[in-house]
Amino acid sequence: MDKTRWYKLEDVERLSAEEKIRLTQEYVNCGMVKLFGLLGLDKIWASSAEGMYITLSDGRRILDMSGGNGVLGLGHNHPRILKARIKIAQEKRLEFCKAFISPYVAALAANLASLLPGDLEYSFFCNSGAEAVEGALKLAEKHHGLSRSGLVYTDQSFHGKSHAAMSVSSLDDSRKNFKLLERCYQVPYGDAGALEQLFIQHCKKGNDKPDLCAFIVEAIHGTRIIFPPAGYLRKVRELCTRYDVLLIMDEIYTGFGHTGYWFAFQAEEIIPDIVCYSKTFGGGKASIAGYTARAPVFLKAYGNTGEALMHSSTFSGMSEECATAIEALNIFKDEHLIDRAHDSGEYLKQQLRNLQKKYPERINDVRGRGLLWGVELKPPMEQVEQLVAQILPDKSPILSTLAGAIVLAELFHTHNVLAYLGFTRRNLIVFSPALIVDKKELDRAVGALDATLSLGWLSLGRSFIARKVLK
Ligand SMILES: Cc1ncc(COP(=O)(O)O)c(C=O)c1O
Repeated sequence: MDKTRWYKLEDVERLSAEEKIRLTQEYVNCGMVKLFGLLGLDKIWASSAEGMYITLSDGRRILDMSGGNGVLGLGHNHPRILKARIKIAQEKRLEFCKAFISPYVAALAANLASLLPGDLEYSFFCNSGAEAVEGALKLAEKHHGLSRSGLVYTDQSFHGKSHAAMSVSSLDDSRKNFKLLERCYQVPYGDAGALEQLFIQHCKKGNDKPDLCAFIVEAIHGTRIIFPPAGYLRKVRELCTRYDVLLIMDEIYTGFGHTGYWFAFQAEEIIPDIVCYSKTFGGGKASIAGYTARAPVFLKAYGNTGEALMHSSTFSGMSEECATAIEALNIFKDEHLIDRAHDSGEYLKQQLRNLQKKYPERINDVRGRGLLWGVELKPPMEQVEQLVAQILPDKSPILSTLAGAIVLAELFHTHNVLAYLGFTRRNLIVFSPALIVDKKELDRAVGALDATLSLGWLSLGRSFIARKVLK
């Protein structure tokens, strides 16, 4: 390790691919570098990004259909978002101060109250999805008191990687390595009957209310794009009301238009007690997240002066972050992006379903809503698995999602199309483009997937290996 080297900002722009990799290996995370290397993405760097496109340092233009895993609802560097941030900086607005009440926080919270249904009115802003979930869980516990602090979550859930969020995230593979929060109970996703049974079991003798404070759930499970049966959320809302358990909707992945609604829970016209959001909320630039709670829920927990600062965070309410989110919400409205997501989504659905009919032996399922779509691939032939296993490090997580990895790499390296694949998704190629995507771009992405699948597993597997070996 050469600890004598010191970097200025202009040095960063000139880092070679090799130096970038070495520094990441030595000072950030060597395992992560290997994972990127398996997909041939370790040496890639982007010189700029605009709208639906990323321009790489070698000049290639990549169509970004990943939407930054839900962050880029407005695409890369939306001009109005840049302008709003530059304005705040140039006018030297007060960025950070805990001594005064922020007009940006106030206006952003008012906009959310106007956007959300019913009495969802009190908002808290923070910096990450897990932090929003953490805040929502604490609010529920404070609302009901320590004797009712049990939490309910589903077997198809991911709510973040902080300790509490991880304790209610069944799909976080790393959970087994950590001590989880006690009194967290799992129910099958989509099964309202099982939820009611759990509520009944937790009603102590002579009490008609369970010792539970909240049920946390996604309207559509975003990580694996899984839908509960129609009517599930309405039933869940009814049960939570009857048993006085707070309903927390996690809209961190699905919020702000991705499913053709402002929030995915609106498809069933329910009003949750608390809603968590993040990702697209920051307009692709700000790391901002938050929760909004129904007025009586918030006021019971934190309504007194003595409790007003019980839940807070240093970076909560930074001016530029909140101003960015205010501008993002205005862009959504002015550009009618929610309707646009719905219409583009119907088109994408049709194109992907056509592909499913064309390749029944390769595609297991196509599912989604709005502009959040997943193509679940069938696992490749054993022969391909054995071939690829020869070049992989032991226990590589890529083997559990090999078809997805092979297709993702081919889309990127041959067709300049970036899709998304998560290791917990098991061969699910995800297209969740920005809501500004046009028909030509959707055609290009589906065309690239068509050309890729037409090659067959053996040929795709060989290209995957060749790329790795040639590196
Ligand atoms: C549904 C859902 N909840 C919570 C989170 C956690 O958000 P963060 O990574 O910002 O902590 C994610 C992240 O992908 C998510 O998809």
